[in-house]
Amino acid sequence: MTGTYPHTRLRRTRATAWSRALHRETALTAADLIWPLFITEGEGVEQPIAALPGVSRWSVDGIVARAREAVELGIPVLALFPHTQPERRSEDGAEALNPDNLMCRAIRAVREDLGDRIGLLTDVALDPYTSHGQDGLIDEAGYVLNDETVEALVGQALNQANAGADIIAPSDMMDGRIGAIRDALEDAGHVNVQIMSYAAKYASAFYGPFRDAVGSRGLLKGDKKTYQMDPANTEEALREVEMDLAEGADTVMVKPGLPYLDIIRRVKDTFEVPVFAYQVSGEYAMIEHAVTAGAADRDAMVIETLTAFKRAGASGVLTYHAAHAARLLNHRPAS
Ligand code: PBG
Repeated sequence: MTGTYPHTRLRRTRATAWSRALHRETALTAADLIWPLFITEGEGVEQPIAALPGVSRWSVDGIVARAREAVELGIPVLALFPHTQPERRSEDGAEALNPDNLMCRAIRAVREDLGDRIGLLTDVALDPYTSHGQDGLIDEAGYVLNDETVEALVGQALNQANAGADIIAPSDMMDGRIGAIRDALEDAGHVNVQIMSYAAKYASAFYGPFRDAVGSRGLLKGDKKTYQMDPANTEEALREVEMDLAEGADTVMVKPGLPYLDIIRRVKDTFEVPVFAYQVSGEYAMIEHAVTAGAADRDAMVIETLTAFKRAGASGVLTYHAAHAARLLNHRPAS
């Protein structure tokens, strides 16, 4: 119910910072953030990623340092991605199953240092490990095979859970992988390991910088349109989410983020489950390049975009700006 002017003046409650704070409908805190980090080989290594200005790959000791930083900032979860050495990549991505791969070593190191003071989310898909950069196993024509890939993903997920991962996050978009992974986790006694499904993941132009970060840009031939969703679709996103929930996903993700806020809202309204958003690498790069060009205020854009995800219904956001945003949120004057 809204009255009429001048008895009703909607500007009244906007007149001062304290009043805006009092009437703000959406709260964003550091606890809403998931910080994606890229792991590389070595000791004491920091490799800046040109395509993601301000983001680096870290050797395992650096990941541990970032994990401590996250705990201090109140960021509850890290999302880990490995940059696999080219010679460890193969047609079948077998390195994903190696209990001593970079991912597993990073999980164990953080766990050893911080126990359960931080959550670790691990990406399940073969693209950081395959010589062709696709997320699954391919046939002679380059088509990504579904059922064979699911089998490999189950092995990858178990490998991560055995190393101590808290949240398994399949980003591959194969049909049936959530149920297969859930069954395997139950059978192995990992009953409290969560699954956050990349349920509605679109074949997007916004993943370019990420592919540089994990070293698969130059390797990928073709695209991922036979498994990732068509950006024009929304009914299909609801079916993807429904299937993944039925198969045992605890939470679901929509990806990319800002261009897909409508999908977040529809998923939230339809299923009333925790929905997460991934503000992906291309979105991060757009903000950073706009800042470099003098076209935008970084702090304001970061807070505004992250708040928009919460307003759209997201429970949390994966963002490369997580540490910066947490610092801003932890010391923010009223505005
Ligand atoms: C791999 C994966 C991708 C991203 C997360 N996991 C890339 C892709 O599907 O090609 C993208 C993240 C980003 O762009 O920040 N399956």
